[in-house]
Amino acid sequence: MRVESGNGTEVEDNVMHEMPSVEAADVTVAPPRPAANARKVFVKTYGCQMNVYDSERMADALSAEGYLPTDNPDDADLLLLNTCHIREKAAEKVYSELGRIRLLKEARAAEGRTLMVGVAGCVAQAEGREIIRRAPVVDLVIGPQTYHRLPQAIARARDGEKVVETEYAVEDKFDHLPAPDRRTVASRGVTAFLTVQEGCDKFCTFCVVPYTRGSEVSRPVAHIVDEARRLVAGGVREITLLGQNVNAWHGVGADGREWGLGALLRHLAELDGLKRLRYTTSHPRDMDDALIAAHRDLEKLMPYLHLPVQSGSDSVLKAMNRRHTAADYLRLIERIRQARPDIALSGDFIVGFPGETEDDFEATLRLVEEVRYAQAYSFKYSPRPGTPGADRPDHIAEDVKSQRLERLQALLRRQQQQFAEHCVGRTIDVLLEKPGRRAGQLVGRSPWLQPVIIDAKSSQIGDIVRVRISGTGTNSLFGEQF
Ligand code: SAH
Ligand code: SF4
Ligand code: F3S
Repeated sequence: MRVESGNGTEVEDNVMHEMPSVEAADVTVAPPRPAANARKVFVKTYGCQMNVYDSERMADALSAEGYLPTDNPDDADLLLLNTCHIREKAAEKVYSELGRIRLLKEARAAEGRTLMVGVAGCVAQAEGREIIRRAPVVDLVIGPQTYHRLPQAIARARDGEKVVETEYAVEDKFDHLPAPDRRTVASRGVTAFLTVQEGCDKFCTFCVVPYTRGSEVSRPVAHIVDEARRLVAGGVREITLLGQNVNAWHGVGADGREWGLGALLRHLAELDGLKRLRYTTSHPRDMDDALIAAHRDLEKLMPYLHLPVQSGSDSVLKAMNRRHTAADYLRLIERIRQARPDIALSGDFIVGFPGETEDDFEATLRLVEEVRYAQAYSFKYSPRPGTPGADRPDHIAEDVKSQRLERLQALLRRQQQQFAEHCVGRTIDVLLEKPGRRAGQLVGRSPWLQPVIIDAKSSQIGDIVRVRISGTGTNSLFGEQF
């Protein structure tokens, strides 16, 4: 399975940032042996971690239908693009990829072989049949709410139908998708994503997510715990709970009471064998006291928080419908830091939202100076069809957006470097995840999500080791086992 990026970030927009743990496809245990005549599926994933998770669930559903995953598109009988609609560039990438796939499909046809092409994810949901009109190479379009119907959709497409499945399904897709089993988990590594919440009711005026992912739904506690147990039994040591607004998750707990994310984390922290917990992405308005207290109390909950603010200007925040002020956000950060002083903060920023003045932009720079981020993702505003922001009359010129993005990224880069340098000379816990580029090296993660490269034996993958940090690279740390 190939992953293009993570966290809703496109690589070009965002050159300064390494994506958190998305290389989940690295093989540390031999995958199931393919039957000689098995069909093969190649899945390419764009966009956020939720898409990475969905791609794995789709691969599991397809493997139950006899499709084995392959990393080579030339080998595949089915190509599935799991797409992202968050910014124009992300959506357009899909069409250039489909152009290349058309040539591949034509070459196959000349040899008398077939290739089925499917588009899943947020572009599928947003554009539906339009995708087939623009790119007739596509046989199948399927939105994120209907992945459990993928096997039937493929069967229909195989019969020659052009299939479009973008209705919001009444049944819960999670109830119908196979849960990860020990074999698939073991071949995916020591860290895993687990979607606990999907969709969004916030309707920020720049954002397509409420339209592509539908309204907020929380998965029940029992399902989450069952999936977490399976992951741990398969060798997973760190779980990242996912949701578009993960901290809006709520459900009825094991004690019969209404739980929020803080209570869920407390419950999951009791799982033996699970060493680390993380969650993403959070909205400032849903950061409640119980969740902040979880950061104070839970050793397994890593001291890292991705808490997007988008802008430091109150008038822009209002126009974006974020429903908090810059001062609210700063107060919240202060409370979180009181609870967990070593927490690393990460954020998302948009520059050049319609109407943003130079003063507004400088307010964002001031907020960044005040917070001191360990990591950040920043983007030029991209008007998205169907969102209120796109209809505004006061769009900002592209060159102004570019200049602002450059100034903001220079500041964020400095902060990221300062944070990394502050780790040098310290001894920290690193969860070893996978082989490094050079023989004899392993890559792990610090509690603050930085990749750490050390000399270690591959038998140590999955261990948490004490590492003395000796230096910094572009997006990683170097260290020695203590
Ligand atoms: N639910 C998360 C964000 C999900 S989208 C939250 O509320 O914070 C990931 C990031 O993409 C957003 O935080 C925002 O910074 C960026 N983004 C979303 N829509 C965008 C647009 N139209 N143009 C530019 N960046 C956008
Ligand atoms: Fe988009 Fe706002 Fe929802 Fe985040 S909270 S997914 S930015 S609408
Ligand atoms: Fe992109 Fe959809 Fe995720 S638009 S960021 S793949 S929710």
